[in-house]
Amino acid sequence: MKRLVVFASGSGSNAQRVAEYFKEKGTARIIGIYCNRSDAYVLKRAEKMDIPAVVFDKEAFFRSEEILRRLEALSPDLIVLAGFLWKMPDHILRAFPQKVINIHPALLPKYGGKGMYGDHVHRAVIAAGEKESGISVHYVNERYDEGAVVLQARCPVMPDDTPETLAKRIHALEYAYFPVVIEQILGLKNHSSD
Ligand code: GRF
Repeated sequence: MKRLVVFASGSGSNAQRVAEYFKEKGTARIIGIYCNRSDAYVLKRAEKMDIPAVVFDKEAFFRSEEILRRLEALSPDLIVLAGFLWKMPDHILRAFPQKVINIHPALLPKYGGKGMYGDHVHRAVIAAGEKESGISVHYVNERYDEGAVVLQARCPVMPDDTPETLAKRIHALEYAYFPVVIEQILGLKNHSSD
């Protein structure tokens, strides 16, 4: 059984989707959900799914090695950022080379970087008059949204889209693709079989 750790800051619908997908498959499981906000809905989801959750602050994450030590003790096969809004510190990335991935709700390298998260992304895509948007799953390096892309999937941007309607379409793509990409990265699925 492969071991996943998920970092999330908000609702956590992707975290739940990934947890449920692998619960059904029985090939991997989320062994911890790490969250930087004590009021984030992902914590309620974690409780319902019986997944241990850890809430941490900047001190534990950036300035001490507390979270690093916890992660090392968990020995995850993959660390998955799913709507996680803090930058991964270098000391954690160095300890888990090629083992941290992120999902971004746009077609990188466009609409990435600091401040480009959630509705900010969708608003910018609509304001630029883009005809399509999508999702990017990528490895995480020390710069926001710049690691190697593993998968992109596309969807149209409709003329009457609002950030909310576009976000809904993007979330549907995320739910369809994210667990499958994770499965491929973990070597649980043949790349040519999807
Ligand atoms: C997703 O759109 C993800 O791409 C972005 O933040 C959103 C998180 O949604 N990074 P949720 O918390 O998984 O519902």
